[in-house]
Amino acid sequence: MSRIFEPTRLGALDLANRIVMSPMTRDRAGPDDVPTELMATYYRQRATAGLIVTEGTQPCPAGKGYWRTPGIHSAAQIAGWARVAQAVHDEGGRIVMQLMHVGRVAVIANRGFAADVIAPSAIACPELVPGPDGVPAACAAPRALTAEDLPALADEFAQAARNARSAGIDGVELHCASGYLVNQFLDRGSNRRDDDYGIDRARFPAMVVAALAEAIGADRVGIRISPGNPYNAMDPSDPAETFAPFLAAIDGLGCAYMHVLDMGLRDFDTLAFVRANWSGPIIANNMLTLECAEALLANGAADAVSFGRPFIANPDLVARFKAGAPLAKPDYALLYTGEHRGYTDYPAMA
Ligand SMILES: Cc1cc2nc3c(=O)[nH]c(=O)nc-3n(C[C@H](O)[C@H](O)[C@H](O)COP(=O)(O)O)c2cc1C
Repeated sequence: MSRIFEPTRLGALDLANRIVMSPMTRDRAGPDDVPTELMATYYRQRATAGLIVTEGTQPCPAGKGYWRTPGIHSAAQIAGWARVAQAVHDEGGRIVMQLMHVGRVAVIANRGFAADVIAPSAIACPELVPGPDGVPAACAAPRALTAEDLPALADEFAQAARNARSAGIDGVELHCASGYLVNQFLDRGSNRRDDDYGIDRARFPAMVVAALAEAIGADRVGIRISPGNPYNAMDPSDPAETFAPFLAAIDGLGCAYMHVLDMGLRDFDTLAFVRANWSGPIIANNMLTLECAEALLANGAADAVSFGRPFIANPDLVARFKAGAPLAKPDYALLYTGEHRGYTDYPAMA
């Protein structure tokens, strides 16, 4: 049997197979950013993945920047996530929550409430982001966080992780990729601070990982990075300079895994770089086919593999891979509509 279908362990997380569902924002949260029954159905349908990583979820109100994304900072949100966790566990699956704080990648109209727009430095994200009607909108100008703000902000992440655990979620994945808040600290373009948090750009990101580890145990904390990814105006030019200090700062904590969105850079082997700088398990991601994924496991570049888009239209992706069955294609026009169509109506194989 191929290694991909074998059980494995990432920290405290026991996986029935090495196929992970990558985090995907789908804009289906209900009023007050509460996860809905529809979301529980969607995740239940995909619970044969060895591990599900939820869509990016805001740890606090200021962490929200997109439309209808769920939170994990209110009692109603915790109750909503408890239904999701129960649904996945009922099917024998495992689920961790991606904690995603957008920082400066925030469109105010997407929020529905007042909250700060914050960033390492007062530099706006120049990219346009979908607004409430899907029409691209400008990101708000952020306030630079003060050094005094940062321990409290790390505490907000820690409380979010405790909330996720109290909802029955198995662990958390800190989103340090794709130009969101933690990545904004690591990046030399968005972090122009001249204090300790700018001289050592990994300092705040490492503080957050340590706070999460302290809150719920390092073996239930994963981290996601995308070295060399220019998304949301990150500087992709020197991924090693940007990410090696961060990996060094957190490697000793004993975290569950590093989830690597591999950009396929021309002169930089991202997975080899992470392997050389990180002693824990690695989940590899991005545009994988079953064949490429099996090769990464066989040659030791990764310990598990994740799939995003293939899970959209193939809730039973693991069974399809096992059977060598063809994969259904998603309808990308229905990604963010907020309704069940294009979300929970993709059938399993006959
Ligand atoms: C609809 C959609 C939403 C996504 N939302 C997130 C997200 O919330 N957090 C994140 O880290 N990545 C997000 N991603 C990126 C995916 O997790 C994954 O890295 C990407 O799709 C590449 O993997 P794939 O080729 O298997 O799809 C999203 C991707 C898609 C297609």
